[in-house]
Amino acid sequence: MEIKERESELVKKINPDSVPGHVAIIMDGNGRWAVEKGLPRHEGHRQGVETVRETVRNSSALGIKILTLFAFSTENWQRPVREVNYLMSLPEIYFQSELPELMRNNVQIRLIGDRTRLPRKVQKAVYDGIEATRNNSGMILNIALNYGSRTEIIMAVNRLIDEKTEGKFKGEVDEKMFSGYLYTAGIADPDLLIRTSGEKRISNFLLWQLAYSELWFTDVLWPDFSKVHLLEAVYGFQQRKRSYGKV
Ligand code: IPE
Ligand code: IPE
Ligand code: MG
Repeated sequence: MEIKERESELVKKINPDSVPGHVAIIMDGNGRWAVEKGLPRHEGHRQGVETVRETVRNSSALGIKILTLFAFSTENWQRPVREVNYLMSLPEIYFQSELPELMRNNVQIRLIGDRTRLPRKVQKAVYDGIEATRNNSGMILNIALNYGSRTEIIMAVNRLIDEKTEGKFKGEVDEKMFSGYLYTAGIADPDLLIRTSGEKRISNFLLWQLAYSELWFTDVLWPDFSKVHLLEAVYGFQQRKRSYGKV
């Protein structure tokens, strides 16, 4: 079947009233995509940015409220310096070229992760994007940059200990309060997690927040992930029964 036909078939089958509110994506497989084509790994990352543009556009059009993209993990610093440098050049490239469209589509940019360890130019690019889109009320584009879930949890624990010691709150910490100390404070948990490239692991991503998310793994490499694949994931999500431990 033609891709376009498959897309319109899925669009007809998808219930617009139960699109997942928060979709999180582990964008994986850029390196393999490039190597398969005999290209250097960074070409995969370059193409991956194109997929980000398209996915942001398609998600917003579908009515997804929050899109969280795992762009760089705390573990990714262990890659060769040249690859890290290339990856660190991408936020600037993306925001500069995409800001007008993000504004037109009313998208609000947010960041999760340890921004203090990011190179200055990356911090500036991200801050400028966050500032420019602060008052937008459409989809939240939440970018996980220098993000690691265990670091996030430990940071929350340490802040809670400090504040408790300083007498800032009394009593015990509950789940709701704990959530408020994470990078994702105020953001609902993901309804759907997508991971591309066939890997079936979480890789230190949103360990707390994914407690009841539906998981969708696809073999498609991130640079090849297109509208039809997003629609398949959303339709797949709508076929699941979420029980939350009940019958
Ligand atoms: C995902 O693609 C991008 C980042 C982790 C930054 P990879 O670079 O991990 O691609 P593979 O897994 O090596 O194919
Ligand atoms: C996860 O992908 C991180 C991002 C997509 C940014 P990796 O490719 O780094 O994960 P592992 O190493 O396969 O677990
Ligand atoms: Mg990978």
